[in-house]
Amino acid sequence: PRVVLAYSGGLDTSVILKWLCEKGYDVICFCANVGQQGEDFEAIKAKALSCGAFACECPDLRAEFVEEYVFEAIKCNALYEGRYLMGTCFARPVIAKHQVAIARNYGAKFVAHGATGKGNDQVRFEMCAQALAPEISCIAPWRDAEFIESFKGRTDLLNYCQKHGIPVDAKPKANYSVDENLFHTSYESGMLEDPMVQPDESMFKMSVSPMAAPDKKEKVRITFKAGVPVAIKNLTDGTEHTEPLAIFEYCNDVAGRNGIGRIDIVENRFVGIKSRGVYECPGGQLLREAHLDIEGLTLDREVKRMTENLGLEFSKFCYQGFWFAPEMNLVRHAMDYAQKDVDGFVDMELYKGNIFVVGRDSDKTLYSADLASMDIEDAGESFDYNPKDSQGFIRINAVRLKMFSNREAKIAAA
Ligand code: ARG
Ligand code: SIN
Repeated sequence: PRVVLAYSGGLDTSVILKWLCEKGYDVICFCANVGQQGEDFEAIKAKALSCGAFACECPDLRAEFVEEYVFEAIKCNALYEGRYLMGTCFARPVIAKHQVAIARNYGAKFVAHGATGKGNDQVRFEMCAQALAPEISCIAPWRDAEFIESFKGRTDLLNYCQKHGIPVDAKPKANYSVDENLFHTSYESGMLEDPMVQPDESMFKMSVSPMAAPDKKEKVRITFKAGVPVAIKNLTDGTEHTEPLAIFEYCNDVAGRNGIGRIDIVENRFVGIKSRGVYECPGGQLLREAHLDIEGLTLDREVKRMTENLGLEFSKFCYQGFWFAPEMNLVRHAMDYAQKDVDGFVDMELYKGNIFVVGRDSDKTLYSADLASMDIEDAGESFDYNPKDSQGFIRINAVRLKMFSNREAKIAAA
């Protein structure tokens, strides 16, 4: 039988590849290019084939990842537990989508992955795969009794490589696990399992420390159309980008070199386990701030309130692996409708880990300086707003507060 293995070229998935071959599978390796820095896909392909893979595919999914996942998350102000921008979460659906497509191309009835049995990724990969290709079954060696019995630790994996002539990276492995794509880099497990252990500065890949960032501010303008970024311009040096992938890569550059987007958190996995993670997400942080600001100018108050709630739903579905689910379709359609007039631009100054919004404008603005002004006594009448009406507005809104207050006083006196 044929199986499509999500393959990274690392120790675990190389062992899994060989193990699947030994079980009698024809293994097609699949290593998605979602913008991992400095990845050599030719080398990965060569290693896969030399370890017994029947084929190896490394499609470039970067543009699709940005347009259909990253920008969708920005549109929804996606955020998990108030802090995590979810770069791993929405990379899983694009990877799973192509994994099952390749499986169908090769007539494979199985897909496999190297995620552990304790994490979120197993859930995300498999839920996405099952939603898109219910006829395909998933193999998860790290949940297989026989596999776990044979590989109790790193030494067992290394011995297996030795025995089967699988090349092993010469440089010693970092004592934490890294998951990387265009949107973020995540670090967890190993030495980071102790929530008090502070990682070394040398761990970070996408951003400088705010302390090491330049001692002068850099100003950028980000333009949105229907809630999605369509341009970024550096107002300090004139650089400009208008293609989705180029926009996002530039957001990473400019925010990363100004020390933006690092977090160190303890989060709740879907499987009920708490997990400590360190993340860097410079471009995502920048776009999120810009998007929130242009919403301020262009979204109706009640629509804004409802999209905040829908954004929480979006984030939960995304984190828990329900990207291709009916509830997610519902939320995304509603968001598209809510965002249709979220157009305009936001000017921001970046300085040592900070993003300072300094201005914004839009053809679709709902803001009126005349209406808002505290200076002009009678302004606003053209909108039928009469400040004198506020007296009745307050009086009526206060009715129940008075009733409640009176009762409290009565209870206190009794
Ligand atoms: N905890 C984060 C999440 O669940 C990051 C997971 C990183 N995955 C990994 N295989 N290292 O989204
Ligand atoms: C894993 O368990 O493979 C990584 C961590 C996670 O998925 O949450």
